[in-house]
Amino acid sequence: MRTQVGIIGAGPAGLLLSHLLHLRGIDSVVLERRSRDHVERRVRAGVLEQGTVETLVAAGVGDRLTREGLVHRGIELRYGGAGHRVAFERLVPGRAITVYGQQEVVKDLIAARLAAGGDVRFEVGDVAVNDAGTDRPHLTFGGERLDCDVIAGCDGFHGVSRASIPGDALTVYEREYPFAWLGVLARVEPSAEELIYAWTERGFALHSMRSPEISRFYLQVPAGEDIADWPDERIWAELRARLETVPGFTLATGEIVEKGVTPMRSFVAEPMRYGRLFLAGDAAHIVPPTGAKGLNLAVADVRVLTEALAHWYATGSADLLDAYSETCLKRVWRAQHFSWWMTTLLHTFETDDAYARRLQMSHLDYVTSSEAAAVTLAENYVGLPYERDLPDPAQTTPQAREVIE
Ligand code: APR
Ligand code: PHB
Repeated sequence: MRTQVGIIGAGPAGLLLSHLLHLRGIDSVVLERRSRDHVERRVRAGVLEQGTVETLVAAGVGDRLTREGLVHRGIELRYGGAGHRVAFERLVPGRAITVYGQQEVVKDLIAARLAAGGDVRFEVGDVAVNDAGTDRPHLTFGGERLDCDVIAGCDGFHGVSRASIPGDALTVYEREYPFAWLGVLARVEPSAEELIYAWTERGFALHSMRSPEISRFYLQVPAGEDIADWPDERIWAELRARLETVPGFTLATGEIVEKGVTPMRSFVAEPMRYGRLFLAGDAAHIVPPTGAKGLNLAVADVRVLTEALAHWYATGSADLLDAYSETCLKRVWRAQHFSWWMTTLLHTFETDDAYARRLQMSHLDYVTSSEAAAVTLAENYVGLPYERDLPDPAQTTPQAREVIE
């Protein structure tokens, strides 16, 4: 078998890459370890930057997102007995975020790929990357061989792509946090219209949502916490203790339909390329979820990779492919800093002494009282502009225009 781009992983990165390439007339095959049902049900984050929304809409996969996504023009920072709104409409006029679950993005992308005749294979458990350092890279799985021009490693943090690169060809930058997030999906109407990022002595809590009937919450818990120690009543009691800290706010409770503990990590592997293997999304970098950047970075990476591959196929020039890693890493490191910064601002650290705590309070006061500081938060949160805009649709193939229209 042969394809132009062999893609490992059917998360947002792999699926969107496959679809964007298709719109540029480039073939790909996507190999995914888990079942379709599994990837469509996996509950992850749900905040889309405006650029992410625009990318999905331009790719023709934005219909349900535009209908069902919740557009938010602000977030609340809650601490010290008061709520403080970070008002995007005033701080970064015209920019907003959209709350829409990542697994909904994945469902929409899978549907679009299949409708366009795309080749997405699920439950392919034993993918191996071969000869990435040569100009004849290929993937093997289940006794089959897939020859490719290039391979895209979109297989997340625990995938095979990054692991197949010789250790001395990568530099890894990493930070682990002494806490994790306990995430909860509950059948209950959100208790506020916007996201609430709450700092308390007991630890951080986040109020988010998925729809007018479904709320999403997170609690800071110690790293390695066992979900079995968190019966539903304990979760609600802790959420109440951390969120009902301002007068007049009552947390609505309901049936918890999903819960799990996610570790917090910052991680970057450089460069995001080894020969003909290109890493995108979580395969190359991880951010703690406090800045809501993981999915958005994956989208930014595959935009750059699509452009670079389209340029290579059209002109034979590898210039953009050669610049891929450096181009992506600029945005990656901005998001690394922002995510670390939000995490440090909003969590309690056991190692913090009284001095560190005072600094943290001063920092929160500054962000909620200085226009300049609030703009810094807001412009990073809604997403900084892309390096280059997506090509205009006239540059796409007639087949692609049909899909878009
Ligand atoms: N072979 C095939 N598929 C694999 C393999 C493998 N060896 N290992 C992992 N995968 C699949 C996973 O099952 C998953 O479906 O690769 C996919 C990777 O998807 P994600 O983990 O969602 O990563 P990505 O597409 O980069 O999405 C960006 O950023 O912060 C996160 O929550 C955010 O998951 C989102 C991610
Ligand atoms: C979510 O709704 O899942 C969510 C929102 C904001 C974050 C992280 C996750 O910072």
